[in-house]
Amino acid sequence: MNTMNPTVTSEAAMPEEKIVSVKEERPAETVIEEGKTVGHPLSDDPKFKLRNVEVFYGEDRAIKNISLDIGRNEVIAFIGPSGCGKSTFLRCLNRMNDSIDICRVKGQLAIDDHDIYDPKRDVVELRARVGMVFQKPNPFPKSIYDNVAYGPRIHGLANRKSDLDDIVESSLRKAGLWDEAKDRLDAIATGMSGGQQQRLCIARAIAVSPEVILMDEPCSALDPIATAKVEELIAEMSESYTIVIVTHSMQQAARVSHRTAYFHLGHLVEVNETDKVFTSPEHELTESYITGRFG
Ligand SMILES: Nc1ncnc2c1ncn2[C@@H]1O[C@H](COP(=O)(O)OP(=O)(O)OP(=O)(O)O)[C@@H](O)[C@H]1O
Ligand SMILES: [Mg+2]
Repeated sequence: MNTMNPTVTSEAAMPEEKIVSVKEERPAETVIEEGKTVGHPLSDDPKFKLRNVEVFYGEDRAIKNISLDIGRNEVIAFIGPSGCGKSTFLRCLNRMNDSIDICRVKGQLAIDDHDIYDPKRDVVELRARVGMVFQKPNPFPKSIYDNVAYGPRIHGLANRKSDLDDIVESSLRKAGLWDEAKDRLDAIATGMSGGQQQRLCIARAIAVSPEVILMDEPCSALDPIATAKVEELIAEMSESYTIVIVTHSMQQAARVSHRTAYFHLGHLVEVNETDKVFTSPEHELTESYITGRFG
C-alpha cells in the first residue's frame, strides 16, 4: 500500500479541522509518489530489467522514473488512460522511439542483462529479437508468402527455398492462418480481411524467431471473432515468447495476461497479478480506472 500521507508536511501550519478535510478529499492512495509502484513490479526470472526509465519528447517528460521487470515467457498487459505513456514505454523495449527525433530515453534498460541502449548494439538485430505488432494491421503490399518470408530473407535465416517454405508454413500455422492462406500464398496480402491481415503481421513477426513480441492494441481494429482468434494465439504463443500487450480492453487484459501494469500520467502506479488488479487493486487510482470512473 502507498503509505504516503499528503498532510504530513503541512500539519504544523494548518488548523486541525482543515487537516481532516484534506484527508477526506484526497485519500493517501490518490497521491502518486514518483518512482514508487505498488504491488509486484519485479520478477524472479526477468527477460527485461528496466530501472528509473524516463522518456522525454523535447522538454516534456512522458515517462516518469519507471522501474519494472518483465518476466521470461510472461504475458504482461499495459493498461491506463489515453496519453499515460503505454505506447511510449513499450517502444523503449525495442528502440522504436529512436525514429522520433525529439525523443530521448534515460535510465537503465536491459534485455537478458545486456544494455538495450548500448551505442554498439545492432538495432536491426534487436528488433528481430523483440518483434512488434501494431494497432492497425500493416502488411507490405506484397504476396502473403513474401510478407512472411521478408524477415527471414533479410536476416539470412534460410539458405534454400525449401527452408524458407518451411519457415513460412510454420509461421502461418503458429499464427492460426495456414488453413486460410495455404491455397493463396501468392495473393496480395492487402486483399485479406482485417483479422487475417493482423494474424499475418503476427506470422511475419514470428518468422524471424523472436524472443519477445510487443503488441500495441493489436485487436482494436478487429471484430470480436478476429479478436478471439488473436487472443487464442497470444495464449499459445506465451509458451514460447515473452509478450507485452497494450490494451484498452480490460476484459482482454484479464483474459490474456499474467500480470497487469497500470500507468497513469507517465507514472507506473501498480503492477500485480492480473486477477488481483481486477478483483482487489491496491492503488486507488487503479481501482478508479477499472471501475470506469475515468479513462
Ligand atoms: N511523437 C510524439 N511527439 C511528442 N509527444 C508525444 C509523441 N508520442 C507521444 N507523445 C506524448 O507522450 C505522452 C504519452 O503518449 P503515448 O502515446 O505513449 O500514450 P498512450 O498511453 O499510448 O495513449 P493511447 O492510449 O491514446 O494510445 C502523451 O502526452 C503524448 O502526447
Ligand atoms: Mg498508445
